[in-house]
Amino acid sequence: MTQDDMKKAAALAAIEYVGSGGVIGVGTGSTANHFIDALAAIRGRIDGAVASSNATAERLKKHGIPVIDLNAAGSLKLYVDGADESTRHLHLVKGGGGALTREKIIAAASETFVCVADESKLVDVLGRFPLPVEVIPMARSYVARELVKLGGEPVFRQGFTTDNGNVILDVHNLEILNPVELERIINQITGTVTNGLFAQRPADILILGTGSGVKTLR
Ligand code: 5RP
Repeated sequence: MTQDDMKKAAALAAIEYVGSGGVIGVGTGSTANHFIDALAAIRGRIDGAVASSNATAERLKKHGIPVIDLNAAGSLKLYVDGADESTRHLHLVKGGGGALTREKIIAAASETFVCVADESKLVDVLGRFPLPVEVIPMARSYVARELVKLGGEPVFRQGFTTDNGNVILDVHNLEILNPVELERIINQITGTVTNGLFAQRPADILILGTGSGVKTLR
C-alpha cells in the first residue's frame, strides 16, 4: 500500500462524519483533496463548504460543491483537513501547503476537527517537519531573528506567497516539547500572522491510514 493509498483511506473514512445539511470546513493538501473527491458523491447532503485555500475552493467548485464565505456560514459542525505531523495528543504541525492561517481560522470556528493523514505523520515529538510561520512581508527578517533566539533555523520559502499575500518562514531544528506554549510565544512576535502549530486548538479526532487499515485516535 502506498502513502497515497493510506491518505485516501483516511479521507474516505472521514466521510462518515459528514452529517445532513449545514456547511462544513474543508482543508488543503493531497489528503484533503481525496476527501473533496469523495465528498462530491454525497454533495447533496450538505449546503456547501468553507475552503481553507484558493486551491481547495477551485476543487470544490469543479465538483459542484458550493463554496461559502465563513462570515456567512456561522459556526461549523465539522472541519476535515490533513496535517504534516501529529502527536498522540492530536497536537499538529500544519502549513506544508502554506494554507495555515485560513486552516487555523476554520479549525477555531468548527465544533469538531477531524484530521486525516497517513501513518507516517504520527510522531512522538513535533518538529522534524519544519514549522511554517506566516509573516507580513516587511517583518520577514525581524521575525526570522526572533525565531533564531528561540533556537530555530528559519528558512524563507522562496517564490511562495500565501493566499493572504504574505510570506512563509519554515523553521527547522525545533524539538517542540511544549507545543501549546511555543504556539503562543511565536504568535506574539510582531509581524507574525500565525504559526503552523495546532495545539491550543488541536484536532478532536485523528484518522490515520496505515498498512493494516484505518485507525482512529481521539
Ligand atoms: C496545508 C496543510 C496540509 O494539511 C498538510 O501540508 C498535509 O498535506 P498532505 O495531505 O498533502 O500530506 O497543512 O497547509
